[in-house]
Amino acid sequence: MSILSGKRILLGVTGSIAAFKAADLASKLTQSGAEVDVVLTGAGEKFVTPLTFQSVTGRRAFTDKDLWGDEAHVLHVNLGKKADLLVIAPCTANTIAKMAHGIADSLLTVTALAATCPILVAPAMDGGMFDHPATQENLETLQTRGVLVAGPAAGHLASGLTGIGRMLEPMDILGHVRLALGKNGKLAGKKVIVTAGGTQEAIDPVRVITNHSSGKQGYALAQAALDEGAEVTLITTPTGLNPPIGARVVRVKSAQDMLDALMNETADALVMAAAAADFRPKETAKDKLKKRDGIPQIQLEAAPDILKAISSQGGVPKRFRVMAGFAAESRDLLQNASEKLKSKGLDLIAANNISAQDAGFAVETNRITLLFADGSQENLPLMSKTEAAEKIVAHIARLLE
Ligand code: CTP
Repeated sequence: MSILSGKRILLGVTGSIAAFKAADLASKLTQSGAEVDVVLTGAGEKFVTPLTFQSVTGRRAFTDKDLWGDEAHVLHVNLGKKADLLVIAPCTANTIAKMAHGIADSLLTVTALAATCPILVAPAMDGGMFDHPATQENLETLQTRGVLVAGPAAGHLASGLTGIGRMLEPMDILGHVRLALGKNGKLAGKKVIVTAGGTQEAIDPVRVITNHSSGKQGYALAQAALDEGAEVTLITTPTGLNPPIGARVVRVKSAQDMLDALMNETADALVMAAAAADFRPKETAKDKLKKRDGIPQIQLEAAPDILKAISSQGGVPKRFRVMAGFAAESRDLLQNASEKLKSKGLDLIAANNISAQDAGFAVETNRITLLFADGSQENLPLMSKTEAAEKIVAHIARLLE
């Protein structure tokens, strides 16, 4: 997760039962390579202790005692100045109200007022408080000032009520943190479409022809493009993976669905990471095929070649300025990939040896060679799909320059 490595995150924790989840958030941020300083409010300290955070961040956690300590005169300014992002999670209605009105009565609120870095708040409060016009107006005030608001979610509340007020889960807040940090990345202002997953070609209402694609590489590409500030659309088959926060998600099943979805889109770049079917049943049975009727003879026909269909579309300007694809090969890797690069009208193809145990479908790593339309090549060593995605996205940014 290179977007978080070396980043300085200041995490404010206020008085909500969701404060215990902030420890998980602090841990996740730290594990992702960020340097995390925590500031607890007095009410926050009632739910969790500074020691909890020190134990997961390996750094000192600050409390209101520090507001009146030796370094007090510079602490609040320094904390907010050296941070890349101030995240307040959970952020109570009370703290939101104070921030909206410039009240600075705790180390956290003083720091928020003095902060020069972007601020992200993850509201957490009980039934009715979020909907109250006072909270709504305060949040609006903060948003007009550029404060980013993540959540809250609807669901079970600590009081036993159900409603909007639950703090987002730490994993989702992490997604919002990435969005905030990536805002001015190399793809800021650019639109990127990523396709992911193995398509499903229906035989009947219950059976499909599909493949081993997990969607992991495509989802990692969508995240990597978001990390660089792109506006991302993820066109995905059913995968069981959580789409990255910030991506617009279009759900499809078959290769034809995917092609139809793409026909409605234009973007700066298209990355076809999906394993789209080459063959599909000629007919889809309306009713479930019954055993008693014997073994069916399923006749196959060609599914549309999505990339070919798009690149053969006449007309200028091209709907996708840069097109990237993958070549899944079990032999003659570079030769086959190079042919696909040309026949599919691509700017870049990631050649993937799917017969290797540590690369290709459903594993965490990939070993790919990148081939470019200008004839150049780059051999990437074995790396995580996340790292591979970052490399590919960096090239897309370069090609779009
Ligand atoms: N692709 C596509 N439409 C299809 C099949 C594949 O657009 N019906 C795209 C894939 O998303 C990938 C690239 O084409 O980016 C190459 O896919 P791959 O499966 O390696 O090659 P195929 O074109 O299917 O050729 P073959 O199966 O003969 O290797």
